[in-house]
Amino acid sequence: MSHLSDEVRRRRTFAIISHPDAGKTTLTEKLLLYGGAIHLAGSVKARRAARHATSDWMQMEQERGISVTSSVLQFQYGGRAINLLDTPGHQDFSEDTYRTLMAADSAVMLLDNRKGVEEQTRKLFEVCRLRRTPIFTFVNKCDRPGADPLQLLDDVERELGMHCYPVMWPVTTGDRFLGVYDREDRLVYLFERGEDHGQSRAGTHTLSVDAPEARAVLGDDAYDRLLGDLELLDMAGSEFSRDAFLSGEVSPAFFGSALTNFGVEPFLKKFLELAPSPLPRYSSAGVIDPEDPAFTGFVFKIQANMDPKHRDRIAFVRVCSGRFEAGMQVKHVRTGKPIRLAAPTQFMARERTHIEEAYPGDVIGIHDRGNLRIGDTLSADGDVEFQGIPRFSPEHFARILIGDPMRRKQLDTGLQQLSEEGAAQVFYAESLTGPSPIVGAVGKLQFDVLLHRLEHEYNVSARLEPMSYRFARWVEGPLAEVERVANGGYGRTLVFDGKQKPLVLFDSEWTMKSTIEREKGLAFHDVAP
Ligand code: G4P
Repeated sequence: MSHLSDEVRRRRTFAIISHPDAGKTTLTEKLLLYGGAIHLAGSVKARRAARHATSDWMQMEQERGISVTSSVLQFQYGGRAINLLDTPGHQDFSEDTYRTLMAADSAVMLLDNRKGVEEQTRKLFEVCRLRRTPIFTFVNKCDRPGADPLQLLDDVERELGMHCYPVMWPVTTGDRFLGVYDREDRLVYLFERGEDHGQSRAGTHTLSVDAPEARAVLGDDAYDRLLGDLELLDMAGSEFSRDAFLSGEVSPAFFGSALTNFGVEPFLKKFLELAPSPLPRYSSAGVIDPEDPAFTGFVFKIQANMDPKHRDRIAFVRVCSGRFEAGMQVKHVRTGKPIRLAAPTQFMARERTHIEEAYPGDVIGIHDRGNLRIGDTLSADGDVEFQGIPRFSPEHFARILIGDPMRRKQLDTGLQQLSEEGAAQVFYAESLTGPSPIVGAVGKLQFDVLLHRLEHEYNVSARLEPMSYRFARWVEGPLAEVERVANGGYGRTLVFDGKQKPLVLFDSEWTMKSTIEREKGLAFHDVAP
């Protein structure tokens, strides 16, 4: 096997999708702990706490520097190189969160054992579904009693239409979480709760469920429960199929507690076994295999520097094929221009380091002066172009107003450039030169960034007039029909995106759903068609 194919096969690139508070920060930290990237858990968390304590976002951004909101954590475990793509959540939730998922080969859906599927989990899940990304399910917080495990998995199935196959099962006495059971190996992992609140690895005792001492070690209650549960699971039938997992139809499910480390390492081991290594990607030249020796990659995120003294930006590039070498010259396919990738950055446990080489599945940060856009392809050889990154439906809308009408041209230029870069989306009620443009964002923080950047980079001082719309759908069909639908009732309006494609904005989910239900002749899309 060549060196390139060795490197491809040892890589796993994934993201965690969850609703705030499900435990993503904690789990990330524990994965890094087991990966040896940090020695004492608590540092990621401390960082998060510091972040929350600062209310002034701009100042916060400056202090954090350029890479923190959008970092990629690389760590090694069991001979594998793992890239964990950080998906901004909480008040950082933005279109970037969705775009990051376009660069992942698999995802871990993290659920709170009392809450199951929540709003943000669902949104992120839908984005994964667009690309049929394989999804693991990890039910967290099992150290405290939660919903019945079977019920939880049924809920996932009902709410998301994805079947779950429990690979691990919780071993409990009802209210005490003792460990997890591996259904394939018929092994019970019992954990010891350490004295240091989960800062170091959990002690583990492993035994076969068939061992004569199993009952005595687990205790009658936990043992009988486990056997009862396993019987139920076996009756539910169905073997785990890796193919069904890889096509996004079945999700291997795990139970654990990120806080106490219970079940984290067994999960990590199975994850590495099951998760795909970097997958082939569709391009204008057909499917590009990661082991294809010619370097290709695409930009999935652009992080602007909020400090006006440093106008450079970092474009995050996911390597798709070939070996990347520092200083290599590649073609920027959209403009046809050559660019030298001089000082790339890799992100390891939140520290930026300069790197000499990278492989498919890795993410490199390229310093850019405004040439690159989200979705652009870089290619060492030829004109291949990867399928672009879709625009996702915004959920916040506002009219953007300027005090000085003489600055309209600067405003339009700024909005155009910032929307190309993916900072926000811009819509027009009538024509490009008509009344105030409308901006849309997935997360509200995007608006703060937009205003700040308009002021500092384009010298336009603008303000926003929030609109009550909450949902947007691109509509395909005759324009007269689209106009009739948009104007035919309250709580809707017609706008156009920068490519003149019509969208209808809705003020409530009910208005939107009933309209879609009624208007069978039109096609409604939540990502730009
Ligand atoms: P997030 O990044 O998904 O938002 O979640 P985060 O890890 O910050 O966890 C949210 C809260 O849930 C934290 O509590 C955290 O300690 C707790 N948590 C995470 N994993 C587990 C778990 O396995 N079991 C239990 N019982 N709790 C868990 P907090 O009170 O908000 O913060 P802190 O005071 O503990 O730092």
